[in-house]
Amino acid sequence: MSSTIAQPNASTTQIVRPARSFQGSVTVPGDKSISHRYAMLAGLAEGTTRLSNFSTGADPHSTLGCMGALGAKVTKNGTSIEVTGTAGAFQQPGSDLDCGNSGSTMRMLAGLIAPHPHTFTMIGDHSLTMRPMERIRMPLSAMGARIDLVDGHAPMVIHGGPLKAIDFDTPIPSAQVKTAVLFAGLQAEGTTSLSETVRTRDHSEHALKAFGATLSRTGERLSIPGGQKLKAIEATVPGDISSAAFFLSAALLFPDSNLVLDSLGMNPTRAALLDVITTLGGKIKVLMVDELPVLAAIAPYTRDGVVIRDAKELRIKESDRIALVVKNLRAMGAEVTELEDGMIVPGNQQLHGAEIDSGSDHRIAMAFAIAALRATSENVIHGADAAAISFPEFFTFLEELSKR
Ligand code: S3P
Repeated sequence: MSSTIAQPNASTTQIVRPARSFQGSVTVPGDKSISHRYAMLAGLAEGTTRLSNFSTGADPHSTLGCMGALGAKVTKNGTSIEVTGTAGAFQQPGSDLDCGNSGSTMRMLAGLIAPHPHTFTMIGDHSLTMRPMERIRMPLSAMGARIDLVDGHAPMVIHGGPLKAIDFDTPIPSAQVKTAVLFAGLQAEGTTSLSETVRTRDHSEHALKAFGATLSRTGERLSIPGGQKLKAIEATVPGDISSAAFFLSAALLFPDSNLVLDSLGMNPTRAALLDVITTLGGKIKVLMVDELPVLAAIAPYTRDGVVIRDAKELRIKESDRIALVVKNLRAMGAEVTELEDGMIVPGNQQLHGAEIDSGSDHRIAMAFAIAALRATSENVIHGADAAAISFPEFFTFLEELSKR
């Protein structure tokens, strides 16, 4: 099975019938987080970057669209992407930078473009416009950027110009905020340093080094000297473990499953899911926000259930993921307790089919398609096309792997 590009006309409702087992091999799309970062740094670099296995999800393609508007030349040939960069000089875009549904695009790109002497207006869809952006405005303003938000939200207008390095202690663990500061620091005057209390995914650190930048880590403190130039690369994006998480979870539901996942990225800052899966039925307190919806959705079928705490950030993702998981689990007949920062899902429960509300959130649509495989009757997933944000091939692959 190979990846294909997003199908924009996919139906918005999908019926998922119970399965008997889950079998087969699958290649999930290229990692969304890495695709974003490579696309952004390629746009800033000098020369032509060639990427293969670029994510088929709509979000990284929003980033590519923005890079085009900023003056990079983007050529797409299936999952092979070429980006000829602007050699450090983004142009004034002729229109708004449309980030679509992608928080990663808006937040990380803000740091990359803020040092450039133009006015940038970043917009997004309804969900993105509801998400907090003050966390980006705060460090970038401290570096000297002038940023306008509407009540802490997009549209975000950046009045760019030369920036000064800062020492920044991230108040919330966020790879997107860290990245915005690193990308701005790369182009600022002086050495920017940043410390994280909880380590977040480190794809930006790796990507910056791949494009020739210097940065260092001492304990929890990262330092990046400013005034650096980037050089184009050739790279293959590894498979997305957050997409694989859905099928790994499905495989857990059936004792005779046999699932082969190809070319998966196994970066330790992302692979915590695998530790959880081997001990599923415990208390989940690790930083793996993107995987929590599916783990919660299959928790009723586990022996001991799952307790999720310290995960308040789930409420301000593409949807309020705590509220939606609880609502959909209850629709399927599950007992679940909603907490401000998580939920308690007892194990050993039998669920029935229901009408599922994805809230136009890709991870909710896919999480409940997986929960549907072990229900006693079919589920109707409304807003199923949201899956295309990160994994357009999801429902096709799901049908191929589910044995009935
Ligand atoms: C991402 C970081 C995470 C994650 C998001 C992608 C990234 O968000 O939820 O889907 O690529 O850096 P945080 O910024 O909250 O860590």
